[in-house]
Amino acid sequence: MRVSVIGCGYLGAVHAAAMAELGHDVVGIDVDERKVAALTRGEAPFFEPGLPELLTAHVESGRLRFSTRMEDAAGSRIHFVAVGTPQSKTGNQADMTYVDGAIASLLPHTTAGEIIVGKSTVPVGSASRLAAVVAESGSGALLAWNPEFLREGWAVKDSLAPDRLVFGLPPEPEQAEVAESALREAYGPVLDLGTPLVVTDFATAELVKVAANAFLATKISFINAMAEIAEVTGADVTQLADAIGHDERIGRRFLGAGVGFGGGCLPKDIRAFTARAEELGRGESVAFLKEIDAINLRRRQRVVDHVVELLDDQPHGKTVAVLGLAFKPHSDDVRDSPALDVAVRLKGLGAHVRATDPEAIANSRALHPQLDYRESLEETLDGADVVVLVTEWDEYRYLDPAHVAGLVAGRRIVDARNSYDPQSWRAAGWTYRGLGRR
Ligand code: UGA
Repeated sequence: MRVSVIGCGYLGAVHAAAMAELGHDVVGIDVDERKVAALTRGEAPFFEPGLPELLTAHVESGRLRFSTRMEDAAGSRIHFVAVGTPQSKTGNQADMTYVDGAIASLLPHTTAGEIIVGKSTVPVGSASRLAAVVAESGSGALLAWNPEFLREGWAVKDSLAPDRLVFGLPPEPEQAEVAESALREAYGPVLDLGTPLVVTDFATAELVKVAANAFLATKISFINAMAEIAEVTGADVTQLADAIGHDERIGRRFLGAGVGFGGGCLPKDIRAFTARAEELGRGESVAFLKEIDAINLRRRQRVVDHVVELLDDQPHGKTVAVLGLAFKPHSDDVRDSPALDVAVRLKGLGAHVRATDPEAIANSRALHPQLDYRESLEETLDGADVVVLVTEWDEYRYLDPAHVAGLVAGRRIVDARNSYDPQSWRAAGWTYRGLGRR
């Protein structure tokens, strides 16, 4: 099947490569010339394990091309729209400029029988609105919505073997049938794996996506709220999470207490969901998401407070070694990264912040050139007064406390991901602080 993917960011580039892997003839379109040039060379413009191999294989096989010209999308049976919906600069709502713009510029290159498939995370109601735009254009194309659940760092696996597929179809039965059969063909090999499929309407498809992210955010903030209570009661949140996680109805995943969630999705999605519910007159239904956001942001300050306390309230001029900058391991993404936020807050208090990350230094430097970035872990730790683990990359999780003790000036560590065994650090002479841990 000929397929186009509009927008080649963290979502679209992986989706385009995955569609080629599934056997389709794919063109990826993006306005960014440098990104398109890199992708055309088979190079991933961001860090995503497994993506370079997939790109190289399919650029070489000729099944995958990239272009800056929307007219190159012409002739595709499905056009996936995978552009970003960042938080608006003026409020909490999602900025729909890129989705609206992509569909407007795609429409003149579509004809009857083609399907425009939205993958971007959008406020509920957008698909109906956009379906009317598509119908009024007279192109004869149809609209469907197919939300994406991939996680950065696992995006290739999540695209080729997702845990579910959701097809949001138009209300008219004949249109729904055409759209469903095209989508079933596009995802044929994925469906053959036995992947669960939910076929539904536009509104449900849009809501599934934001509800999933809101639930995940709630789970993380729930355990972080328990960490706050643990801090004033002497309880240990890690043991608490283990104990409640044994209950299959609760489950242990996403109960990692620490500095909280970040990235280009969870924070902006819960804010956009709140804003949309308020527009719909149902603000009270998801008002709790404001508390989820507030708990999450409080944890960043808690990490900073721990560092300051370990420095006897005198952070000025002290050297803080910050381990990790990406919003999570296996990613170079620093959008709304708790780690980068903590580093910047400490710098604002006059500390000398030396920060490192295996993949995210370039992206961090572009946003915050004022920090002292070091490529090597040893250089970052050398002579530090306090160490903060903020992104739990394996190279930091498995540090040997005795070895690190020989590098730093002060054996003080804040474990903002509760990744370490406190006993082994204390046994090596460290003052250890976790979040919500004894
Ligand atoms: C998230 C969802 O997990 C995906 O299903 C969704 O497709 C994606 O957003 C999206 O909307 O595009 P992602 O942003 O890649 O994926 O990251 P997650 O793995 O969900 O982690 C989000 C944040 O939560 C990270 O900062 C992570 O460190 C934090 N986290 C995660 C915790 O603080 N504790 C945990 O126990 C788990």
